[in-house]
Amino acid sequence: MTIASSIFFNNNILKVFLSLVIISLSNLSFAAGEKIIYPQLNWTFSGILGTFDRASQQRGLQVYKEVCSGCHGMRLLAYRNLKSIGYNDDEIKAFAAENSVNTINDDGEVVERPARPSDKFVSPYPNDKAARAANGGAYPPDLSLIVKARPDGANYLHALLTGYVDAPAEINVPDGMYYNKYYSGNLIGMPQPLYDDGVEYADGTKATPDQMAKDVTAFLAWASEPEMEDRKRLGISVMLFLLLLTALSYFAMKQIWAPIKNQ
Ligand code: HEC
Repeated sequence: MTIASSIFFNNNILKVFLSLVIISLSNLSFAAGEKIIYPQLNWTFSGILGTFDRASQQRGLQVYKEVCSGCHGMRLLAYRNLKSIGYNDDEIKAFAAENSVNTINDDGEVVERPARPSDKFVSPYPNDKAARAANGGAYPPDLSLIVKARPDGANYLHALLTGYVDAPAEINVPDGMYYNKYYSGNLIGMPQPLYDDGVEYADGTKATPDQMAKDVTAFLAWASEPEMEDRKRLGISVMLFLLLLTALSYFAMKQIWAPIKNQ
């Protein structure tokens, strides 16, 4: 065996070995936790033709602002991005100005100014340590990408927010932890955030925990993938174009071969 071929051979063995290790590790991680089944909801934004429900997203923004933003930031979203869920410039300006950000003035001092539409959503805590310190050591993750960051994200989020139940008698829930039937391991550092009439919807929709969870999920699903509607629209145009092209090619082929076939 030449040196070159033995290297090739070893390399292949290494690849097979690594694949086996990866496969067995991924099986292990599945085996470790019992699989939790979340209720599968009918989201307007799922499926290839799915679009976001604007009214629900706007109610979701209200839930985020009045409930979740006390603990969770959304640092990837700028106030002006809210335009695509149906707010106009004045509304966005007013919404942003309710928050303040630090800036440096001409004398080099740090001063506060009202947030502008171009600013990112202001996080509730100045840094991760402050966030942990305020939540008994648990870190409230940034919600900008949370729907994409969890498998079956939308259903998971809705389930998590509505999954607070009394702990079974045999389970001891430590101080500062809460029992949630959909959280992996069941003990979570987030207190139940949604209660009946936790917010008051301007459009008269009844603010049940289930409704609020659906709305905030619709809002966060959009935040995780704001370009989803464009992506689906483009995908459908491309498919239609390809369909048309296939038909045209077929008829062109028929035409080109016709004289030869008819001989
Ligand atoms: C009182 C503070 C507080 C409020 C209000 C709050 N959360 Fe949390 N949240 C937390 C903390 C703390 C954690 C981390 C829990 C842990 O690690 O055990 C968390 C975790 C989460 C997670 C991550 C779960 C996971 O799979 O890791 C999501 C999603 C979430 N919160 C969504 C929300 C939403 C949506 C709202 C508003 C409806 C909200 N939270 C309101 C404190 C809060």
